[in-house]
Amino acid sequence: MTPSDGTLKKTPPESSLRESSMPETTLREMTWRDIAALTALEPELFAHDAWSDRTWWAELAGRPRRSYVVGEQSGTLVGYAGVDCGGEVADVMTIAVARPAQGQGLGTVLMHWLIAEARRAGAEHLMLEVRADNAVAQRLYSNAGFANLSVRRKYYQPGDVDALIMRMHLWDMTEDETEDPSEDPSESASEVRA
Ligand SMILES: CC(C)(COP(=O)(O)OP(=O)(O)OC[C@H]1O[C@@H](n2cnc3c(N)ncnc32)[C@H](O)[C@@H]1OP(=O)(O)O)[C@@H](O)C(=O)NCCC(=O)NCCS
Repeated sequence: MTPSDGTLKKTPPESSLRESSMPETTLREMTWRDIAALTALEPELFAHDAWSDRTWWAELAGRPRRSYVVGEQSGTLVGYAGVDCGGEVADVMTIAVARPAQGQGLGTVLMHWLIAEARRAGAEHLMLEVRADNAVAQRLYSNAGFANLSVRRKYYQPGDVDALIMRMHLWDMTEDETEDPSEDPSESASEVRA
């Protein structure tokens, strides 16, 4: 894993204008010491799908296949993201930014980290699931290069909310891509939350 242990400047690579308002932010590898802060943030960010400390322990035990990063501002954990890199297809496991730090570009920085991590692992595609009613996250993903692939109807409960399966190519494609119609792309997305 190669999170930048240094301090992110206000205009990281591929930054948007929004990022110019981001306070100084440091990315570092997640450790078990972060679990208390993570489980405190989860319920307000993922109302019905908050990960418990047990889930976080299991996720961290999944390294090196799983990679997790946290973003800190003034020593406080304000964002995190994780990816599963198990082969050709990498899956975004989660991405989140604490409410007070949202809208400053940190989500975009974390997404760039996920993409870089999946590329470093040699994956060809990066996939994720997102709630159909989560317009902010969808905008983040579209901006990063994800495209809608399929829909899982009524995937999120309660509420019967559809899951959109999104995918991005991690490397430049020089030829027209052809999808194999016999393949159900949603089957290759693992049970992830983001
Ligand atoms: C989704 C999430 C990670 C985005 O993080 P963020 O730091 O706010 O994202 P950014 O500041 O980088 O903004 C990303 C895009 O979302 C848009 N956005 C951010 N906050 C917004 C808001 N409150 N209203 C409308 N759009 C918003 C921005 O306009 C930006 O798009 P742009 O560059 O075209 O302007 C964050 O909202 C979050 O943690 N949400 C709760 C958890 C969650 O839903 N995670 C995703 C699970 S699939």
